Amino acid sequence: MDLRERREKWRDKWKRFQSLPVSKKIVVLKQRAGILVRTPDRMLLEGEIFRWIRSREGMRNILFIGVDQYTKHYASFFPDATFHTIDNDPSRARFGSDHHLIASIADVTKQFPPRCMDVVIMNGVYGWGLDEQDEAEEGFQRCYDVLRPGGLLVLGWNNIPERNPLDIDTISSLRRFTELGCPLFKGNWRYEVPETENRHTYDFYTKPS
Ligand SMILES: C[S@@+](CC[C@H](N)C(=O)[O-])C[C@H]1O[C@@H](n2cnc3c(N)ncnc32)[C@H](O)[C@@H]1O
Repeated sequence: MDLRERREKWRDKWKRFQSLPVSKKIVVLKQRAGILVRTPDRMLLEGEIFRWIRSREGMRNILFIGVDQYTKHYASFFPDATFHTIDNDPSRARFGSDHHLIASIADVTKQFPPRCMDVVIMNGVYGWGLDEQDEAEEGFQRCYDVLRPGGLLVLGWNNIPERNPLDIDTISSLRRFTELGCPLFKGNWRYEVPETENRHTYDFYTKPS
């Protein structure tokens, strides 16, 4: 593409942007700044899945693992709960909630007593840093430990070899949970979101009572 074609392309883009209503312009700008992500898996998480969690009884303590710029506002989805966040990268602490912990999930029980969480949400962490066998085994075991019996684990992961380094179905500490049929997905416990680049998949588990 030569310089003239490139200029024309940008002029078209600019015209399209100018023609948008203010609310849409804000969405586009936030997306470009990395503050807002509008992929199908993210929209599903922030819309349907969070709504379903809110609708469940006794959702007072939520643990959200791994934070980023675009998750900074997630506590606002749960105004009636305490929204705890954890990330082992200290530089990400600025994206955490008011109840943020700088630590690996494998060390979460050093800070929290057993059975204190009603929900644990781990999205885009397994295969995105939580990759080693020992740490993953321990990480899921600690999720189990902090969850109350009957509590919910929502696990978002990518079903491609590069992001499923251990073969998720062979992680033995994860097998201690019971698969939970989710009403959002016709009672299935596993749902692969269509049209996602990394085959984003949500799994739903509960801790047996
Ligand atoms: C791709 S981001 C995902 C952020 C967010 N959970 C989401 O929904 O997109 C992965 C994050 O997980 C964090 N992470 C990786 N391994 C971790 C571990 N063992 N314990 C806690 N956080 C971890 C990384 O530091 C990074 O901030």
